[in-house]
Amino acid sequence: MLDQLKPQSPDALLALIKMYASDDRTDKIDLGVGVYRTGQGGTPVFGAIKGAEEQLLREQDSKSYLGPEGDMGFVHALMPYIFGDNPTRGGRIEGMQTPGGTGAVRLAVSLAQKAGAKCIHMGVPSWPNHAQILADLGLELEPFNHTAPDGAADMGALRAAIDAAAASDGDVVLLHGCCHNPTGVDYSNEQWDEIAGLFAEKDVMPIIDLAYHGLGQGLDEDVYGLRAVLSAVPEALIAYSCDKNFGLYRDRVGALYVMAKDASGVEPILSNANSLARSNWSMPPDHGAAAVRLALRDSGLMADWQAELEGMRTRLRQVRMRLADAGTAGSVDLTPLARQNGMFATLPVSKEQVVQMREKHGVYMAGSGRINVAGLTMSNIDKFIEALTDITG
Ligand code: LMR
Repeated sequence: MLDQLKPQSPDALLALIKMYASDDRTDKIDLGVGVYRTGQGGTPVFGAIKGAEEQLLREQDSKSYLGPEGDMGFVHALMPYIFGDNPTRGGRIEGMQTPGGTGAVRLAVSLAQKAGAKCIHMGVPSWPNHAQILADLGLELEPFNHTAPDGAADMGALRAAIDAAAASDGDVVLLHGCCHNPTGVDYSNEQWDEIAGLFAEKDVMPIIDLAYHGLGQGLDEDVYGLRAVLSAVPEALIAYSCDKNFGLYRDRVGALYVMAKDASGVEPILSNANSLARSNWSMPPDHGAAAVRLALRDSGLMADWQAELEGMRTRLRQVRMRLADAGTAGSVDLTPLARQNGMFATLPVSKEQVVQMREKHGVYMAGSGRINVAGLTMSNIDKFIEALTDITG
């Protein structure tokens, strides 16, 4: 029976990790998978998380089951940062812990599907796993252009997508909350205001994926759009990841938040989410979420976390400005990077040029032309620009 299974190609992004590791060149550059790196090239555990882990080690007296909703102290501790001063919107917002942002996205779209959604409208390019999750669930994907030819977000395409979703009863639209992956092209605050109005006017439910909170312009600035949308619409689903903004990648820490039409609508939605979680992973892993809870409850560790996040933002901005200052490298215009946010940018290079970058220069980037800006440091950035200048085709 099992010999009926056809081999699947490995996930292209994750395959880059192995390819990079097996390259012997000492001056190789890893711009592949989305992991933050310091100016020295490392991905250390956050000081705030180390402090919280020490506390956890001292104080945790049991590892018995918590339940499919995971650590609700963690879920609630994050809420003021995400939703602001009125984090539950009068009892209409509640959440549950998930295994990473991937678990949250999976749960969000599964819930929408269980509620009758057949098709998800999503700007492309997007994080490749979005499409994979939808395909795995048998949900249709209706793509629209995320970026217009001028390099800004394509508002016309998004307006049309919201219209199309409204016309097909039960379609939903999935948006990235900030630091768009893979383009770095975010909506402006004015555009978010318009988007919020469109969702409300057309009665379309949004799913917002927030995987890079705090890595764009700031903790409050990065959720301007999310809060504007939530203030306008009756219901929404929010997938949240702590992989990058707490550096907890392999600990798999995320959360799904649901906003219901009224407070009494929350429990039925979450009971469905709980039962989906139970059949998928039963319960999320505890350790990383417990560390986040402790870090956010301790004013010293919380201040450390915010300072560390600010350091990451500043470094990402410096690398972006340094690239933009280079103007063009070969045929690649690097100036748009100054206007974009977060860890990623997609460069206009072909698949063949990506192979040349890797084989000739030891520069590892996604086949789509996406680079992880955090993989560049002041000591390898010139080599990267020279490599771009050298590629042909
Ligand atoms: C990425 O896009 O590189 C990250 O979100 C890691 C992943 O899981 O793909």
